[in-house]
Amino acid sequence: MFSRRQLLALGLASPAYSAALPGETHMATGVKTGELTPRSATLWLRRTASSLRLNNGIVRRGHQSQAVFLEPGLSPDLLEGAAPGAPGYFQVRYQSGARRRSSRLLEVDPTADFTAQLLLDGLQPATSYSFLLETRATRNGRVDGELTGRFRTLPLATSPTPAHIALLSCQMYCHMDSPDGFALYRSIERDQPNFLLSCGDNVYYDNESPIARSAPVALHHWQRMYSLPSLHSCLRHTPGFWQKDDHDTLSDDAWPSMPPGRMAPLTFAEGQKIFRDMVPAPPPARPLYRSIRVGRHLELFLTESRDYRSPNTDPDSPAKTIWGDEQKNWLFSALRSSDATFKILVNPNPLVGPDRNSKKDNHANASFASEGAAIRRFLRDNFPHNLIAVCGDRHWQYHSVHPDTGLHEFGCGAASDAHAGGTPGLDPAYHRFHRVLGGYLTIEVDTSSPQPLLQFTHKNVEGNPVHRHRFPGRPQA
Ligand SMILES: [Fe+2]
Repeated sequence: MFSRRQLLALGLASPAYSAALPGETHMATGVKTGELTPRSATLWLRRTASSLRLNNGIVRRGHQSQAVFLEPGLSPDLLEGAAPGAPGYFQVRYQSGARRRSSRLLEVDPTADFTAQLLLDGLQPATSYSFLLETRATRNGRVDGELTGRFRTLPLATSPTPAHIALLSCQMYCHMDSPDGFALYRSIERDQPNFLLSCGDNVYYDNESPIARSAPVALHHWQRMYSLPSLHSCLRHTPGFWQKDDHDTLSDDAWPSMPPGRMAPLTFAEGQKIFRDMVPAPPPARPLYRSIRVGRHLELFLTESRDYRSPNTDPDSPAKTIWGDEQKNWLFSALRSSDATFKILVNPNPLVGPDRNSKKDNHANASFASEGAAIRRFLRDNFPHNLIAVCGDRHWQYHSVHPDTGLHEFGCGAASDAHAGGTPGLDPAYHRFHRVLGGYLTIEVDTSSPQPLLQFTHKNVEGNPVHRHRFPGRPQA
């Protein structure tokens, strides 16, 4: 245990950490708005012990071979970036124009790290809402400081509106590139997309310090990441959708039956639960694969690439799978029944690549070659002109075209320059664009002329375009 003197030195015994002060927000990990539809939105809420992250805590950095476990007996709440949760209640007031509404009082769930998810429904399509969050320690207690934010609901599927989405992935804490976290969140906040899409590796449990072999350390990874000022600010003003990948489920290239190895006693199943607790997520009974309709011209299909996969180590065969039969049946039938002008497949992992020959984790690798080829063939045969794949996971930005099927894939790249690398190199048979630096990808539908255009723009972390490609749609009626 730490003495009071040690706690004082760490800033943990200060009133700001341990008790409420007037005006304190008690939302150090911010708010996330997600699962948008034309009529609803889900707010992810978390009450924290303090209004601020612990900026002067014990620093544990280092990745890959330098990554270390947390020393036995040392609480993650003493680490730099800690923002431990606290019991209490939320009330959400929200409004559009003069119409004001207020939620019921909502208690945070201590078994979900003091979070709560609130479905706001009965909303108007394509409408901007502002919200004000209030917390309190007890049902009838004093109200803490408030936090404000905003979101805009999605347009109806019949509405020929423009769209603007930002795709990012692979944010490693020790590779942050700005004093307030990650420059690309400031850039995305400035861009004001309809929403951002974080397509996996939101945190890295296994290959940066402290290695998360327990739920409290795994939760610390989320606390220190989402309490960073640039993320806190962006996500108050920008809704999002979140997917998970290997590092934010358990460990590198993980699959459900994989022994957790050095991550034990943390399990794959715990990682699945923690992910759903840490982001606005579909209800627990619903899978994480889902689609997002954004007006007449755009539908995004988000796949889940960890929960259903065969062991990566199995020999390749038509039965070996990443997505699983149920997900593939859903996806293929949802794609066929969609009347959106453009369809985007949003995969945590590549479908086209190319990737390093040593990898055994995705549809661009030889170890899943049969399923990868079958999916690409299905897409070419059914949607030769209006389906595009995008992905995260790979730490370089690229636009590639599959030589046999003509399927286009855009990889958004890593969230910072320091985290870029690992490419097999530029391959002229595939690549239209290849850049080994950090950044993000915007997906835009331009409806300013009779023929809608789908535009992909790779941006650097500062938000400056580094590559652009457009696809024309069929003329509007
Ligand atoms: Fe990654």
